[in-house]
Amino acid sequence: MRFLKFILCFIIIQVSAQQGGMWIPSLLEGMNENEMQSLGSNLTAKDIYDVNNSSLKDAIGHFNGGCTSEVISPKGLLLTNHHCGFSQIQSHSSLENDYLKDGFWAMSFDEEIPNEGLYVEFIVRIEDVTDAMLAGLTEDLSSKEKQSKIDINRNGVVKKVQKEDWQDIKIRPFYKGNQYYLFVTERFKDIRLVGAPPSSIGKFGSDTDNWVWPRHTGDFSMFRIYADKDNRPAEYSKDNQPYTPKHFLPVSLDGIEEGDFTMVFGFPGRTNEYLPTVAVEQITQKVNPSNIAIREAALKVIDAHMKVDDKIRIQYASKQARIANAWKKWIGETQGIEKSGAIDIKRQFEIDFKKAVKEKGLEDKYGTVLSEFETLYEEFETINIKRNGFVEVFIRTNELMYMMFQLAQMENAANKSDAAFEKAKASVINRLKGIHKNYNVNVDKGVFESVMPIYSDKIDASIYDKTAFTDLDTALNMLEGSAKTVLKNLNKDAAYIYAKPMIVEFYTSLEPEYQRINSKINTLQAKYMEALMTAMPEERYFPDANSTLRITYGKVNGYSPRDAIYYNPVTYLDGVIEKYVPGDYEFDVPQKLRDLYKAKDYGQYADVNGKLPVCFLGTNHTTGGNSGSPAIDAEGNLVGLNFDRVWEGTMSDIYYDPEICRNIMVDLRYVLFIIDKYAGAKHLIDEMTLVHPKK
Ligand code: ARG
Ligand code: GLU
Repeated sequence: MRFLKFILCFIIIQVSAQQGGMWIPSLLEGMNENEMQSLGSNLTAKDIYDVNNSSLKDAIGHFNGGCTSEVISPKGLLLTNHHCGFSQIQSHSSLENDYLKDGFWAMSFDEEIPNEGLYVEFIVRIEDVTDAMLAGLTEDLSSKEKQSKIDINRNGVVKKVQKEDWQDIKIRPFYKGNQYYLFVTERFKDIRLVGAPPSSIGKFGSDTDNWVWPRHTGDFSMFRIYADKDNRPAEYSKDNQPYTPKHFLPVSLDGIEEGDFTMVFGFPGRTNEYLPTVAVEQITQKVNPSNIAIREAALKVIDAHMKVDDKIRIQYASKQARIANAWKKWIGETQGIEKSGAIDIKRQFEIDFKKAVKEKGLEDKYGTVLSEFETLYEEFETINIKRNGFVEVFIRTNELMYMMFQLAQMENAANKSDAAFEKAKASVINRLKGIHKNYNVNVDKGVFESVMPIYSDKIDASIYDKTAFTDLDTALNMLEGSAKTVLKNLNKDAAYIYAKPMIVEFYTSLEPEYQRINSKINTLQAKYMEALMTAMPEERYFPDANSTLRITYGKVNGYSPRDAIYYNPVTYLDGVIEKYVPGDYEFDVPQKLRDLYKAKDYGQYADVNGKLPVCFLGTNHTTGGNSGSPAIDAEGNLVGLNFDRVWEGTMSDIYYDPEICRNIMVDLRYVLFIIDKYAGAKHLIDEMTLVHPKK
């Protein structure tokens, strides 16, 4: 008995040390199923993914291609993050109906608001099409020949797939193109806004708390899927009906405690877990610092203006948040790689890899992969940093340069045809209008003076006084007329004259050179992946995220960010009140929420100690795109909503360390409490199935 206990203990330690990974839901039988069960799950692989019966996967929808959402009622009620529904909420907001500030709640189906262009996509089934996709691909083919063979194979595969008319097909490479999977999907296009808390709840803590634990954000919003009379996807119509899902997630009122199993089911965007050490060094020691410096220079200017001018504060809020989000993430990523010793660990791993290659007699085939990486990344470094710099300056931070970049594309299009020019012009006009909706020339000029010196030694801020593009009217004026007139005038504009040589340089040398080396790196990366799986088949490989449906699992768990500090895994409403700063743009708390706190009026949503949980941490391996993903308990109930990661663990996109990598979720009890007690939208709660799995 004691021996058995010892063994069990050993297995559990083994498993938890090995956690991390984003797995393909149709391949869970065996290893993943066992791991999940040893972590406390009572779910079978078939409960999660089943082609013939409804399963958890039928409740998980890709939200507009960038976030995740889940169905939580038999009437197609959909839950995602506040920051995922942000632009929809914003687009319905006005000064009179400020849904961003005050929140929004549809009190009946009639009041739910349609959203043009918004879609939610479900996975009907997943098929391994590797053999068909790689048929006839021999070693001797050039990468161009390989690609065209793959394209031919793809057409063959697509033709043979059985699917309904309203369904779509996607084929995606996995393991760097060593495997291919096919997805049959259903895309719903009538998605209506049902509810959102005020930003003071849904975005509580804003940038200061972004990527940070302890966290107290109620980052959720609600939508509803509508379908045609046959319950199929359809364009918006007032005759559409609430969608009846194949499966919806019951919501647990028992919540979680430290050590509980959780899984996160969603659409992670992009990770890079199999990079060679040279690449990790280049990204974290060269590219990140360079990008960080540019964003920091921009933020310094924007923040200073926002602090002293309320109009600018509102105008630049969303732009500032976008710039700050990746800025903060990269800082955490570089520090996390250092703190976790990832470089040394990866180096050791590469020594083991070389040994395995030798032992298995694979040196002819794979013996030079790592040294080829060394050479390529050395060649790549300067261009990689410079191209990143161009993107940061001309696309991400400086608005005038971004306008010039768009205009240059328009000039390019004009060289093709008049039609291409007109199309490009329409798109530029749209962009210009978008930018000028929230544009302040002093801010942008300040950003220019601050970021441009990092990219180029040619700086001339006087262009801001001469160009037509710092004002929408004069800008649009300049775009009037035929291609010939427009281009003639454009090429006399001071800002365009200034920017054009750099943009031309980007298109003629920077970008092609970057792509040339990058495509070699990608080819080698594919070979490395194959080499790893061949030489060290006993290792645990999951495919890098590629915006396809995955599951990741772990436990509710705190962590120690620094010596002598331990972070508990659960925050409470008490912490919201602790952070409360009256009138503050990030930390204000609505009166009603403070009243509910004072009265401890938590209803059925309090935990066993009478406290109201707000957020919690888990060891689930998530990334961008997992926002809005459900956190699911051991029985398949919804307990949380994923929305962020902890700062110290943002390097999990490159290297997952179970010691410090944590995802951050809103506790569903907080979500329900806000809907019910704060917003008085009890009718939505009544639609859901609330359960007590622990009782
Ligand atoms: N860090 C989260 C993510 O990467 C949340 C971003 C939205 N929130 C914000 N304060 N900008 O998307
Ligand atoms: N906020 C991220 C998103 O929008 C999730 C956080 C992460 O990168 O893990 O998907």
